Amino acid sequence: MQYNLKDFTEIIEGGLAGIEYTDNAPRLFAPVRYTLEGGGKRLRPCLVLATYAALSGREPAEALNQALAVEVFHNFTLLHDDVMDNADVRRGRPTAHLKWNANAAILSGDAMLTLATQLLAKCPADRLAALLDMFNRTAMEIYEGQQLDMEFETRSDVTVGEYIKMIALKTSVLLGCACALGAIMAEASEADVKAMYEYGYGMGLSFQLRDDWLDTFGDPEVFGKKIGGDILNRKKTWLLITAAEESDGELADILREDLEDEELISQVRRVYTRLKVGDRCNELAKRYAAEAASHLKTVAMPQAASDFFLSLAEKSYTRTH
Ligand code: IPE
Ligand code: IPE
Ligand code: MG
Ligand code: MG
Ligand code: MG
Repeated sequence: MQYNLKDFTEIIEGGLAGIEYTDNAPRLFAPVRYTLEGGGKRLRPCLVLATYAALSGREPAEALNQALAVEVFHNFTLLHDDVMDNADVRRGRPTAHLKWNANAAILSGDAMLTLATQLLAKCPADRLAALLDMFNRTAMEIYEGQQLDMEFETRSDVTVGEYIKMIALKTSVLLGCACALGAIMAEASEADVKAMYEYGYGMGLSFQLRDDWLDTFGDPEVFGKKIGGDILNRKKTWLLITAAEESDGELADILREDLEDEELISQVRRVYTRLKVGDRCNELAKRYAAEAASHLKTVAMPQAASDFFLSLAEKSYTRTH
């Protein structure tokens, strides 16, 4: 059994392309297709397939429906997130709410949420309750995280602890859930389900810290999103919170001024660079990835599988998109 992203991704792309939509309301599904065929790294569904294969020794495609469920759900959160964040570009293309409108993005997102649960439930009956429980608990946590993310935009006293809790909810739990769903499908022990969840969860912290870094310092052509959106939205990232603490009021003053978008982004970036918060953000991400990887040691799996999971943990803080 080979463990590599290319093979897993091919299985996922085949599964996504095979999803059938009713033809009652074609315009409901146009943004769904647009979003699902728009690329993306497919990290979460790959985690489902890899965990299933590693813990069961069976063919990864046997957990394809659960993997698709996670990817469709992830894309639903992105449709709504782009409305909430007023984002114009994703995966190098106009966002759905821009291509159509906000109503279309909301309703097509709803359809994706339901499609995700339909896919998830295509499983052996004895695993349905555990899969649903994990999935629904995770979904609710993500909404809680997104709520905090929004509330933090208008607060200037957000702590690093609050930030970590918020990114754990909006991002980490889905990576943990992806691993756990694969492990549940593999009929793994409770301890192994938990260890794989912790691996995904820790990697999620690293992944979101890097996402926030890329939002300020990434190459827009490679990242596929506009740079500086977090700064314009006053997102309370680790970068912003730390720089605000260390810049002796300078960052707070810049954020209070009524600057043009590009000017605001460049002034904030200058403070970040002077305080080296970018490098320190990446170092913190690396530490979370190492902590995540430590959970793999307790789970019996082929060497090729653990090498694969380790390489993903490393990617979470070195990735460029
Ligand atoms: C974007 O997720 C949302 C975050 C949690 C940062 P990804 O970076 O995995 O997005 P795609 O699916 O690869 O486009
Ligand atoms: C994404 O956070 C979290 C979810 C979509 C649940 P971001 O808002 O940072 O994600 P991007 O940068 O738009 O992909
Ligand atoms: Mg957001
Ligand atoms: Mg966003
Ligand atoms: Mg982001």
